[in-house]
Parts: sequence; structure tokens; C-alpha cells
Amino acid sequence: MTTADDRSPAASFPAADRARISRRISSIAPSATLAVDATAKALKAAGRPVIGFGAGEPDFPTPAHIVDAARDAVGDPANHRYSPTAGLPALRQAVADSATRMGGLTVEPGQVLITNGGKQAVYQAFATLLDPGDEVLLPAPYWTTYPEAIRLAGGREVTVLAGADQGYLPSLAQLEASRTDATRAILLCSPSNPTGAVMSADQLREIGQWALEHGLWVISDEIYQHLTYDDTPFTSVLSVVPELVDSTLVLGGVAKTYAMTGWRVGWMIGPEDVIAAASNLQSHLTSNVNNIAQRAAIAALNGPMEPIDQMREAFDRRRRLMVQKLSQVPGFTVPTPTGAFYAFPDVHGALGKEIRGTHVETSTELAAVILQEAEVAAVPGEAFGAPGHLRFSYALSDEDLAEGIDRVIALLGS
Ligand SMILES: Cc1ncc(COP(=O)(O)O)c(C=O)c1O
Repeated sequence: MTTADDRSPAASFPAADRARISRRISSIAPSATLAVDATAKALKAAGRPVIGFGAGEPDFPTPAHIVDAARDAVGDPANHRYSPTAGLPALRQAVADSATRMGGLTVEPGQVLITNGGKQAVYQAFATLLDPGDEVLLPAPYWTTYPEAIRLAGGREVTVLAGADQGYLPSLAQLEASRTDATRAILLCSPSNPTGAVMSADQLREIGQWALEHGLWVISDEIYQHLTYDDTPFTSVLSVVPELVDSTLVLGGVAKTYAMTGWRVGWMIGPEDVIAAASNLQSHLTSNVNNIAQRAAIAALNGPMEPIDQMREAFDRRRRLMVQKLSQVPGFTVPTPTGAFYAFPDVHGALGKEIRGTHVETSTELAAVILQEAEVAAVPGEAFGAPGHLRFSYALSDEDLAEGIDRVIALLGS
């Protein structure tokens, strides 16, 4: 006979025997980018005039024709029901068409899985491909979610650091030096979060051919594909090494291009067997993505590009202002980013100093002093596997951008 006491959590899990949270989940680091954003918003709410450079999201509203499509979708009862896990057929088709246009290879709807944002596509890509102990070559600076997603899938990230002197892009020799018998995949992110670096067709061809030769999976995160500047072309690895089609997953989403971060629509494009396996996983995790958001994404992908061009022009203007201003900060070295909406200065020259009574040794400490003393929020490089750097998003108004960096100049120049 069981009593209420027998069934209590304390009886089942004596505290002395195990922690309350599993080892797998308690080892996940909180997202540093979201943490900086939350701190900045909390300080703002407390009345401090904080200028946030932390957010990785456009500051524009979603274009009107996309919002209208969602409004229409809400009234259609077909959208009130479960729909296929892999995505609405019209959206899979729209993603396939867009990928065919951008990448030059014909993509079929059966090669597309619609996910809850690009983030779920990242998580599911590793979960679907990795077995325990598999290694993933991860060029650093990297987007903060990748190592966590790799580890959650039982894999191990092997970081390959490329500094500002290399334009933040790893050489083939560096990658080859880190390859082992356990290497299963390489992650590519171009244009890059956090550096804004864009890989050239030649670099991608070289790395793609090497991956093919060694039987590595390529996971290519192309979520910033529409955001390049200075006539820098976006290149998809599949367009330069089409033979990789059976061993490449391309990840993307509507968040960054269409100012749709809150709508949560992303995708994974890959060989049909991997897409079917990932879809099976998703069917037990989240099922279909919200139908209203999927309808909005169809309008985004099939609609006019003018609103997107206008946003890109604004980002480009702010990018140039950002580089010009950051270059005036004593101790900062600022490579010019050619994609995404981030600048990633090397700040080693500003470390090892006293700033307003605080000794600053690391970029985390520097970010904290800048937040407290200049009321400016930037994300420390530690979050991206690159201590000694700061990430500044330029997805904020021109006025705030200028004022914010002027405050940093005043703080570090004093
Ligand atoms: C490189 C990269 N990939 C994927 C994502 C995921 O985007 P979302 O889940 O908002 O679609 C982000 C968001 O910051 C990103 O920077």
C-alpha cells in the first residue's frame, strides 16, 4: 500500500542521492545575449537611460503585407487545427523556391522542414545527426546557441578560433588541424553572428570540397543570407560544391530578413531521409509551427522585396556609422563587417586598465563597466567563444547608435 508520504518527491528522490535538475539540463549556460538584453531592459524600466546594443533583432515592425496575411489567416478555421508537422505545403514550397533562387540548386518541398524559428532548426540538426562522442568543428567566434545544441545532442564542439587579423574566418589549415576520426560535421555561419563576416565563394568552395573529401556533414546556417553590404555577394556552400547536396543541412528563417523575430518561423533544408527523421523528432516535441505564423511567412517569402531592401539600406547606413564611431574608441580594433547587423571589435587594447576606479581585465568586466558607467549594453565576447571582444548590434536607431558609442568614447577616452 502506498501512502501520500511514499509518493512525495522527497521519498522518490532523496536529496542526498541526486540533484533536482538533471546533469544534462543543468549544464546548459543561459543565453548571454538574452541576458544582456534583459539586464538592459530592467535598467531602462528602472529609469536609467540605457542604450541597448545587445539585441539580435531588427528594430522595424514586420512589413504590413505580412501582418495583413496573418490577420486574414486568423479568420480561417482551417488554421485553427493541427497541420502537418513538416509544415504547410505552401510554405515548404515557398522555402524550396526561395532556396532554389538563392542557392542555384533545385530544392523540392520534401527537402524542407518548417521549425519554430531557426533556433529549433539548429537544435534538431544536431539532434538528428550526432551520436554520443561525435565532434563538430565549430569556427569561433560562434553564435552562442551552437555549443549548447551540440552538447544537448551528446556531441562535443571543437572550436577553431579565427581572430580579427583573419577577418574572423578560419583557414582550411586550421580546420584540418582540428579534424579527428570522431569529426562528424562542420558548422558554417555566413554571414556571421557575431562578427558580420561573410565567406567568399572561394573560401566556401575550398572548405566544402574538403568536407566532401572527408565525409563530413556541413551544417550551413544561412539565416542572414539577405543581409550583405558593399556589394558583397552571399554564397551558399551548395552553390559552389553541389556534390554536398546529400550531406548538407541548410538552416534559415524569416526572423532577421523580414523583421519577424517574434513570429517564430524557421526551416531546415536537407536530404529527404534527414528531413523525415528530424520531422519525426519534431512531431514529438512541438508538432506543427503555429499556422498563422506560417501563413505570414508564406506572404513574406512570396511577397515584394522592397520593404526588405529599405531595411537593408538602413542597416548599411548604421553599419558605416558604427564602424566609424567604434574606430574612435581607444583600444578598439574594428574590422568592417560586410553582413548581418553586428560589429565585433577586438577590445584587447582596452583591457588591463583602471576605468572609473574598477580594474578591468576581461571583456566581461569591460561590458559590465560600460553598462554601469556609460549605460550602454554590449555583449562580451566570452558568450561567443572569443574573450577580448564585444558585440555591438546595429539594429537600433541612428540617434541611439551615435549617442551610445559617443558615451563609450567618453568613458574609455577619459
Ligand atoms: C546565426 C543565427 N542562427 C539562428 C538564429 C535563430 O533565429 P530565430 O530562432 O529567431 O529564427 C539566430 C538568432 O539570433 C542567429 O543569430
